[in-house]
Amino acid sequence: MQLRLIRCYSTKFSAGEYVAIQPLKQTTTSKTYLTKLQPGQNYSVTTGHFKHNDIIGSHSRSVIYVHKGSTKDTKYVVSKPTTEEYVNLIKRDAQPIYPMDAAAIVNLADLHIDYPNLTPEGKLSQPPLQFLEAGTGHGSLALQIVKAIHPANCFVKQLGMDVRGAVLHSIDCNPKHSKTGSKTVKEFKNGMYANDVEFHLSESPTTWLQNESQSWVELSRDKDEQQLEFEDKNAFLSGVFLDMGGFEKQLPECAKHLKLDAPLVIFCPSVTQVMDAVRIVDETPEMNLQFVKTVQLLDGAGGGLKEWDTRKAVIRATGEAGWVCRPKVGIRVCGGGFVVIFRKGATKMVETVIEKVIYEPRRETNQAVVKKWWEFWK
Ligand SMILES: C[S@@+](CC[C@H](N)C(=O)[O-])C[C@H]1O[C@@H](n2cnc3c(N)ncnc32)[C@H](O)[C@@H]1O
Repeated sequence: MQLRLIRCYSTKFSAGEYVAIQPLKQTTTSKTYLTKLQPGQNYSVTTGHFKHNDIIGSHSRSVIYVHKGSTKDTKYVVSKPTTEEYVNLIKRDAQPIYPMDAAAIVNLADLHIDYPNLTPEGKLSQPPLQFLEAGTGHGSLALQIVKAIHPANCFVKQLGMDVRGAVLHSIDCNPKHSKTGSKTVKEFKNGMYANDVEFHLSESPTTWLQNESQSWVELSRDKDEQQLEFEDKNAFLSGVFLDMGGFEKQLPECAKHLKLDAPLVIFCPSVTQVMDAVRIVDETPEMNLQFVKTVQLLDGAGGGLKEWDTRKAVIRATGEAGWVCRPKVGIRVCGGGFVVIFRKGATKMVETVIEKVIYEPRRETNQAVVKKWWEFWK
């Protein structure tokens, strides 16, 4: 149990934590509620209100009642919110990328982040990996990026921030969005991802990179002379994610700071923005970005997923219990858009000589080989 608590896996609700509340009996219009548990507070749902104190100390997936006097009690299930429930239900100031789409975007960047190696003195043996995201917005994409980089920070709780193996810089020009996005990430799962990200308020990613990133550049500057031959000397970012209006102007500075082979991923709500991105990259060869692919995120539940309505129901015609399993209708269709991916190319070409392939006719025809085998076996 102690281990489960340390690793944030406790199924018990504690004060300050978020809880998702859903009616036990699902209908097509079932609503999920989300609230932060605060001792002494009440939470109102359509059929009455819950005492937070009754939920604190109970386990996730417990069934609770709202007492309605003489009428039948309504049952609800309390659970630890999933990323999707949390992101979709907490207060927002900016339009988020829907969680399943955000997860697909991070997947497209193909990040593989391992635990860091430490020296015998307990220091990082390699510089930390750094990523950049703009804009922070609601913090939905940020939350998916930190989920991917979190393993690199496995020693932080025990040994401190000096052994942080990866960090996400999340930039927004709007103070309100930066504050809300930061809250989204920092309050999720009792703050388990809070150490993985630095939020910066800046006019643009370009302004931040030009004026405020110097100490971060120094932290991850590659000391390997051979590697330096192939990448820009200020390259320190292992990935860049852009979801902001006017991203085109940010491309040169972001590209300059990208490490060799690192992805630059742009979320574009419309296909004309994809065309702007590929045109600018084509017209600016000094950015040294190589086009990888364009993908469309389909609308639906996000991530190309379609949710199905799956529940037990009374069949009106027969009055018997049966199962409903059909594509969910009457819900807000969300998600969709385009993602365009580039990767940073090497600054130096490798020269090689392609030798002429000399065609040697087969000495034996098939017929001759068959004849030889026949002679051998007979
Ligand atoms: C659509 S929201 C981003 C949503 C976010 N990706 C998410 O998943 O929650 C776009 C954000 O870009 C920010 N933005 C717009 N122009 C910007 C700029 N020049 N520099 C930094 N952020 C900018 C806006 O303030 C807004 O918060």
